[in-house]
Amino acid sequence: MLRAAALDRASLPARRDFPQIVAMPAYTLVTFGCQMNQHDSDRIGEVLRGIGYTEVAEPANADLVLLNTCSIREKAEQKLRSEVGRIGLLKRAKPSLVIGVAGCMAQQEGERLAKRMPQIDFMLGPDNIAELPSILQQVELGAPPRIRTVFDLDAPQFLNAQAEPGRVGATAFVTIMKGCDERCTYCVVPYTRGPERYRPAREILAEVRRLVDAGVREVTLLGQTVNSYRDPAGSLPVAPGTGESHFKHTLRAVALEDESEFPALLRAICTEVPELQRLRYTSPHPRHLTWSLILAHRDLPALARHVHMPVQSGSDRVLKRMLRRYTVDEYVERVTALRSAVPGVTFSTDVIVGFPGETHEDFAATLALAERVKFTGFFGFTYSERPNTPALKLADDVPEEEKSARLSQIFELTDRHRREHLQSLVGTTEIVLGERRGKNGDFMGRSERNEIVHFACAGDAIGQMLPVRIREAYDNSLRAEVEPGFVLAPGADRPSPAPGPSARRALPVVVGP
Ligand code: 5AD
Ligand code: SF4
Repeated sequence: MLRAAALDRASLPARRDFPQIVAMPAYTLVTFGCQMNQHDSDRIGEVLRGIGYTEVAEPANADLVLLNTCSIREKAEQKLRSEVGRIGLLKRAKPSLVIGVAGCMAQQEGERLAKRMPQIDFMLGPDNIAELPSILQQVELGAPPRIRTVFDLDAPQFLNAQAEPGRVGATAFVTIMKGCDERCTYCVVPYTRGPERYRPAREILAEVRRLVDAGVREVTLLGQTVNSYRDPAGSLPVAPGTGESHFKHTLRAVALEDESEFPALLRAICTEVPELQRLRYTSPHPRHLTWSLILAHRDLPALARHVHMPVQSGSDRVLKRMLRRYTVDEYVERVTALRSAVPGVTFSTDVIVGFPGETHEDFAATLALAERVKFTGFFGFTYSERPNTPALKLADDVPEEEKSARLSQIFELTDRHRREHLQSLVGTTEIVLGERRGKNGDFMGRSERNEIVHFACAGDAIGQMLPVRIREAYDNSLRAEVEPGFVLAPGADRPSPAPGPSARRALPVVVGP
């Protein structure tokens, strides 16, 4: 087990420790699944580049192909098999090609998969990314398939993002915790990612600072239940509202028991890195949407006015069987409280349809909840059995066609809600952060909530906060034009750093038309 608390590039083996690798080996990284996996892939890339690898897009040009897998929903293994089969053909023509499998599939079923797919050279669990250099070295030396899937329970390790020039965009993810202590009965995550471990607040603050200094304008904090965060070093001051509960449906005792320090972390980030323009987080667990977190939303202008809060079902009976630990009324009262603290805040959610025992009435209750909350973003899934999960003991008794029909029905409703919401924005002015260029030379950015906005801009809008007038609403996005009179100053492609706390919401220099 690697015991370093935080691994920096300095602690990785130097390039000269790899005598067998001839000049600049190349890697391709294929990522499946969630933002957490994408974030892990970014760290994997940094470790590889740190030992002299270069990235190539095509597996055919690579010396190493790494598949970063996801197992949250079904068909993960089929997907992996077909990928390994495809890349295995390349390996037949080029036997030195190394194939590695990382992520949740490796963690969960490494031994079995390695036996079934002999093309695989090594397996790497999500907590073992820092060991990649030594594993590659052993593979180079001809070791049999290496399987490193050990949770770093004693000394949790969080790889620091490197903020490499040229790779830093306008937005970035920062991991603040890993694992999950919930036991939602359908979910494989507690088994693939292990128990909750938290990153020290000072490391998080240092990473946000580094990223912002490198040009990042928006940070999304990542964690499986991101708002259960606690600082292991106990360095955060108590946040306003801690220990208070003004909810009606949530039992006061339950609310007061909540030990989360997430609101304190949000406040510390906004105070210590005031140049950060936007702060998001994903995904919160509804039971940790505390009073104190609502106050943080009220007080921190950098906090985006959008929250993705998975609800999973609108039926109390199903929520109980899922072991979600809240009721529909509790969920809705937290949404309502946040809406009154932050007018205009929007919500997106995840829902599973066809959970074992879900009746027509249960599903109707989920539709009713969607109607009540009017989510502006919606991710719906049909239930599928996952290995090791408690729900395996329940009969998967909703027929697949029925699950699909329910999914289509709820998509129809939530698609309508989203379209109505987007339509309501036509004619308004929104502040958009330019993220990247689209195919036709236009820019794509996101509003303060989370709407995708396309717009034309004469200068380089990437990394800029721009006021735009919404002209048209599509099914999933908006078209806008930069407000007349707003022109990017020449060379202002990234606002100069450290404008001071009062300038947090400052826009780039405006010059007349
Ligand atoms: N079946 C279907 N959907 C699932 N999810 C998690 N586990 C399952 C499962 N066994 C969904 C949940 C979760 C999202 C990431 O994936 O909605 O929030
Ligand atoms: Fe899975 Fe529930 Fe943990 Fe989310 S909170 S990762 S659904 S066990």
